[in-house]
Amino acid sequence: MVTGSAGFIGGHVADALRAAGHDVVGLDVRHRTDARDTGDVRHGTDAGSAEDVRHRADAGDAHDRWHTADVRDATALDELLPGVDMVVHQAAKVGLGVNVSDLPDYTSVNAHGTAVLLAAMARHTIAHLILASSMVIYGEGRYTCTAHGPTRPAPRSVQDLENGRFDPACPRCGEPLTHAVIEEDARPDPRNAYASTKLAQEHLAANWARETGGRVAALRYHNVYGPRMPRDTPYAGVAAIFRSALEAGRAPAVFEDGRQLRDFVHVRDVARANLAALSAPVRPGELRAWNIASGTPHTVGDLAEALASERGGPSPRVTGEYRLGDVRHIVASPGRAAAELGFRAEIGFEAGMKEFARS
Ligand code: UD1
Repeated sequence: MVTGSAGFIGGHVADALRAAGHDVVGLDVRHRTDARDTGDVRHGTDAGSAEDVRHRADAGDAHDRWHTADVRDATALDELLPGVDMVVHQAAKVGLGVNVSDLPDYTSVNAHGTAVLLAAMARHTIAHLILASSMVIYGEGRYTCTAHGPTRPAPRSVQDLENGRFDPACPRCGEPLTHAVIEEDARPDPRNAYASTKLAQEHLAANWARETGGRVAALRYHNVYGPRMPRDTPYAGVAAIFRSALEAGRAPAVFEDGRQLRDFVHVRDVARANLAALSAPVRPGELRAWNIASGTPHTVGDLAEALASERGGPSPRVTGEYRLGDVRHIVASPGRAAAELGFRAEIGFEAGMKEFARS
C-alpha cells in the first residue's frame, strides 16, 4: 500500500513500484488528477466514504486499486489492508505552514494519521513500513566554529535576520559558523510545525516497531522537485514557487541573500530510493534512517538562476526577506544510503532543472 498515492512524491513512488512489478494499493484523500495528462494507467476511484471503499475492495478488481480515503480513517484501512504486505507511507501535510493556525492540521494529518495507520498495521500483522521522513527534522544542520569546534546554533534571532545576518553565529563567541555535512545520527532539532510532526512520525513508528517487532525504513528526503510538483500554494517548495513565478512572467523572489544551501533531489530518484528501501537492512523491532539527497548542494540563488535562464527570464530578485521557520543551510551526507541501500541519485541538477523548468 502506498499512502498519499495521488500526491507528488507518492504518485511517483506508486508508479515506480508498479513499473517494478509490484501490486500497489493506492490510498489518498484526493483522487489522482494527472491520469489524463500523463497517459499512465490509472484506475482512480473517487469513493470518499468507507462504504464506497468497501464496495470497491469487495469487487476484487485488480485494476481498481486506487482508493480515495483519509489515512486517519481506521475503517477504510481495515477494509484495504488485508492482503497488504508492506506500507509505504507518503501521505502528509507538507510545507512550512503559514502560521500557528496550521498547528492542529499538521498534528492531525501527520502525527495522528501515522498513529491510526500504525495501529491498523498492527491489527493486520503488517510488519514492514517505509516512512517518508524529512531532513527538516535536523533543524539547522551541522556547523563548526573556527575557535570552538562543532557547534549547534540556536534558532536565528529576529534581530539578526532583520539586520541581514543570515548565517548562524557561534553561541559562545558570536563569530559566523561554517556549515558541515550532517549524518543520520545527528540529534534532531525540529524548528517548525511540519518538522515537529515529521519527527513525531519517526518516534511513533519506532515505538510501533519496538512493540510489534516491525521494521521501519525512514527516508529523510531533502528538497524534492520534479514533474507534478504542486504549485501555487503557500505550502509549495521553493522550486515550484520559482517556476510558477517565471511562468507568470514574474522574477523569482529569492529570500535572505540567496546563499542558503539546499540539496535538490529529483522525484524519480526519490522513487528509486523507495524501491531500494524495500530490501533495507533493518532488524525486526528497529527504525533505521537514511538521508535521501543528491550529495551536491546548491544555493537557493543558483536554483532561481537555473530556472530563470532555462525559461529565458525574468532574472531573479534577491529580496532580503526571511521566514522565521526557515533554516539556513542543510547539507547532508548521502553516504549511508549509498553504502546500505545501494542508492545514489542519478539525475543531476542541470538536467533535472532543465526538465523541471518546462514540465
Ligand atoms: C522543503 C519542503 C519540506 C521538505 C523539505 C525536504 C516545502 C515548503 N518545504 O523544506 O516540506 O520536508 O524540503 O524535502 O515544501 N525561499 C525563497 N523564496 C520563496 C520561497 C522559499 O527564497 O519564494 C527559500 C526559503 O527561504 C528557504 C529555501 O528557499 O531558504 C527553501 O525553502 P522551502 O522549499 O520552502 O523549504 P525547505 O525548508 O527547504
